[in-house]
Parts: sequence; structure tokens; C-alpha cells
Amino acid sequence: MPSSFVAKLNTASNVFTFRDFILLPRRSEAEPRDIGLKTKLTRNISVELPLVSSPMDTVTEWRLALEMARLGGAGAIHRNMSTDAQVEQVKKVKASRTATISRDSKGRPLVGASVSPLDPERCRALDRVADFLVADVAHFHNSKIIGAAKKVLPDLSSDFIAGNVGAKKAVEDIVDELPRVDGFRAGIGSGSICITSEVTRVGAPTLFAVAEVASGVADRGLDLPVIADGGIRGPGDAALAIAAGASTAMLGSMLAGTDESPTKVILRNGKKFKTHRGMASAAARKVRFAIDRYSVPAKGLDEGVEAYVPYVGSAEGVIERMQNGLRAAFGYAGARSLRDMWKVASFGVMTPIGAGELGAHSLEIKK
Ligand code: XMP
Repeated sequence: MPSSFVAKLNTASNVFTFRDFILLPRRSEAEPRDIGLKTKLTRNISVELPLVSSPMDTVTEWRLALEMARLGGAGAIHRNMSTDAQVEQVKKVKASRTATISRDSKGRPLVGASVSPLDPERCRALDRVADFLVADVAHFHNSKIIGAAKKVLPDLSSDFIAGNVGAKKAVEDIVDELPRVDGFRAGIGSGSICITSEVTRVGAPTLFAVAEVASGVADRGLDLPVIADGGIRGPGDAALAIAAGASTAMLGSMLAGTDESPTKVILRNGKKFKTHRGMASAAARKVRFAIDRYSVPAKGLDEGVEAYVPYVGSAEGVIERMQNGLRAAFGYAGARSLRDMWKVASFGVMTPIGAGELGAHSLEIKK
């Protein structure tokens, strides 16, 4: 038995999340409208907007994926449906005549699909139709998952994003053991509907995970984009994630309440809502197509909840607010572009008491 348990406690890492930090203002050389948000989504795919819709069954089907592409971001179709149905969803986006900012080399709307390496047939089927594949497993840094990905990757030609991961060492192992990887999806346990960390007391909160993964990528001298995934509640969180090394931010709950998400509007006490649920919630797991996302489905452990989110109207409205807020954040932080933000951004640590001064306070807000 090791004798260093006390030392382990005393040398524990500081694990920070979004609310712990603030970006410090710096001399600004650019007006918000001059700030470019163009970024890399994967090794070979660039997008004008650093925003991706999450592959969840209350968030991204063809309508939202198409809208995200129209607005300059991207969407990844969820996999809690049969392979054929998911292929059809991708094809529907591809066949749309909508003029989109994000496009493939033939000018068609850009669209991704989520897959699990444990389902190689789905990987191959989606590879034939989608522009990028994003792994959708709760903990990619797992020998079985990495082994399965190693086997299927030689059959795939679309860019492949590995995730979710939350540690530098995960990047090293994945880069060493896979024939290729074209991006990372970082964050474990921070999603609005996640209870993984609450249940298991294990997690890599998104901001921390992004910094770990981006450092792992940089240490290897690679230029692979990192998606910040989970818990993003507004432009400030996305700006923090980018400052910590992310290239894009993935949105779940922020888009679940939009017109383009696949759920219906529900009236509760006269107010409009839509539903949002974790892909490891009991309700989502009942559908059974994505149960291998989590390592413990056999034990019947719920790692997500089902919830209501306020109905927020069009995705365009949400994305516009994100875009304007991001530009403003970049402006205050003295950055003209994403890469600039990586270089110049500096963080301040908030105390829990100080955090109370950040919003409107000491007054009664007029409705
Ligand atoms: P937001 O906060 O944007 O987070 O709604 C979306 C992200 O949460 C992850 N996700 C889950 N994590 N249990 C988890 O621990 C779940 O049931 C679950 N479902 C989704 C996923 O990374 C998603 O993009």
C-alpha cells in the first residue's frame, strides 16, 4: 500500500471552472466589427463562427445542423437513432438548397455526425455522407475505445474528432496510439444535464479540460483544434474557453430551447419550454442507440437528467447574441482573432464573494 495518501491530498491540482475566472481587460486595437471569429473545427475544416451544436437528441437533427451551417458554425447529428436514420438526417442537410456560410468543397452545407468507435458500421456509414465525425463517448481515454478507434480509423476518410477527454495524458496516448486524429472534444461532467461528476465524483470541468487538452496538443507540436464541450451558458463562457485554448465551443442547453431543436414547445404555468436531456439520462437511454456512450449502462446508472429549458425562439437569435458577445469579449480582452486571444488573454481568479459583484446588483431589476 502506498504511504503517500496525505501527500496526494496536499498536492492536489486546482481544478477551475468557468465561474472561477474572469478575463482581464487589455489595450484594444480593434472595434468589435473588425474582430474575426474564423476558426478551425477540425484539422481540415474551417468555420467562420466558433460554435458547434451538440450531438444530443434534444438538440441536433437536420434542422439545427442546417441552421448552424447557414450561420457559419456547424452541427453534429446525434446518434440516438438507427444508423439508417442518422444517415438520412445527414443527407437531408446535404441535399438542402439553403445557402450556408459553412460549406463542403462542392458548396453543399457542412454537417457532422456523432459516432462511437464501438460501432464501426455506423462509423463507416456516416463517413460516406458527413464532413466530419465526432466521437460521442463519455471517456475516450479508455483502452477499449482507443483500440476500437484504431481498428476503424483506416476505413474512414472524414476528419475524426476524439472525445470526450479531459487530460493532457489522454492527448498523448490518443496521438501515439491512433493512426490519425483531427481534433479533440474536451470536457467531462460539466454539461447542464450531467450528473456524472455528482454521481462518481470524477470529472474534468470544461475550462480545465480545455486547458489540459490544448496544452497536450501544443506540447506535441501539433495544431489540432479543441472543442470546449459542456456547461457553456453564454458568450463569456465561450470566450473563457477560447482564451484557455479552445477553437470552438459546443452548445447543448443553449440551443435545446430553440425553434430548430427536435423537441416540441410545452406550456407550463403559461410559459413556454422545451425539453433537454442528458444522453445518459434514463429517458435517452431507453431509446438504446447511444447506450455505449457511457461505460456503465449495464449497471443502469443514470449519468444525466431530463429537464425543461425555456423556449428561446430562433437559433439565429441565440447565435447572434453569442457572436456579438464574443466579439465584445475579444475587444475588451485586446484580441483581434482566436489565435490572438490564445496569445494575449490573461485570466483573473474570482473569489466567490467578488463574483457577486459581476452582475447587476444592489437594486431591483425592472421586468
Ligand atoms: P450543455 O451544458 O451545453 O452540455 O447542455 C452539453 C454536453 O453535455 C454532455 N452530455 C452529458 N454528460 N451525462 C453527462 O455526464 C449525460 O447524460 C450527458 N449528455 C450530454 C455532452 O458532452 C454534451 O455535448
